[in-house]
Amino acid sequence: MDGLSIFPVRASTTAGEVDALYGFLLAVSIAMTLLIFFFVFFFAIKYRRRSPDERPKAIHGSIPLEIAWSVIPLLIMLVMFAWGTKLYFENHTPPRNTLDIYVMGKQWMWKVQYPDGQREINELHVPTGRPVKLTLASEDVIHSFFLPAFRLKHDVVPGSYQTFWFEATKPGRYHIFCAEYCGTNHSRMIGWVTVMEPAQYEAWLAGGTRGGSMLEQGRALFEQYGCVTCHVLDAQGRCPNLRNVYGNPVQLDDGRTVLADEAYIRESILNPNAKVVKGYKHDIMPVFMGQISEEGLLQLIVYIKSLSPPNAPAAPAAKAPAKQAGKQ
Ligand code: CUA
Repeated sequence: MDGLSIFPVRASTTAGEVDALYGFLLAVSIAMTLLIFFFVFFFAIKYRRRSPDERPKAIHGSIPLEIAWSVIPLLIMLVMFAWGTKLYFENHTPPRNTLDIYVMGKQWMWKVQYPDGQREINELHVPTGRPVKLTLASEDVIHSFFLPAFRLKHDVVPGSYQTFWFEATKPGRYHIFCAEYCGTNHSRMIGWVTVMEPAQYEAWLAGGTRGGSMLEQGRALFEQYGCVTCHVLDAQGRCPNLRNVYGNPVQLDDGRTVLADEAYIRESILNPNAKVVKGYKHDIMPVFMGQISEEGLLQLIVYIKSLSPPNAPAAPAAKAPAKQAGKQ
């Protein structure tokens, strides 16, 4: 697809693969269309009525022919399915040690928060050569975060988190669009992603920290809301110890095991009784629904994540098999 200017530039590691799949879909569609039109004209000419009293012979079909035109398209479709599924899972399974950035959509802007505390509106800065994981949240209605140059698009649904990751390859400035109609100024809910060389990126990051990092702000909220009095760190209090919880399986009192990801932590803050950890009581923790902003929640989550360093041993409850809560 190179050289065709109707396609945006490719600026991520998976952009080429997405284009290859798209090219395949296009090639199959064109081939099928040509085949159908060829036979329309071929049969129209070959079997045209040659005299007014000509009557065609009755035909009773052909089993081998019908099997062939059912099975061959099925196999082609299955290739599309398998290829698309592989790409989908690759884009939604981030590697370890990603750079985590938090994006919040609201009518009508994208608010971006970085772990070090920088905030931007309608701008996203990322380095080349490093996997970046985006956690997306919405404060109001459904939006869709679209990065054409990275060939990535994801709905941003209120009440849950969505994540995907990418690795940018080419420095430059690329469009961000909202790709889901979300009200009057939907068409103005646009922005720019700036891809920088790693050294430049470090310099940019060092430039503008205000009000502490997300982690520090999260820790402040943790104290402000009194979480710390019950979730006593490094001791077993009335509430679960939060060290090494993130990223590990958690056993619940109803026998299920869920993975402690961003969505689980968010739900446990807003509605603590939805998933109670095995061995703990219901109705101990206040319900924080409507008390904490989406930005505050993301800061709290960054703080709780920091209590689980990536290489720490799993918590004791991690013996049960990991099972996705299925909330992505
Ligand atoms: Cu947000 Cu359209």
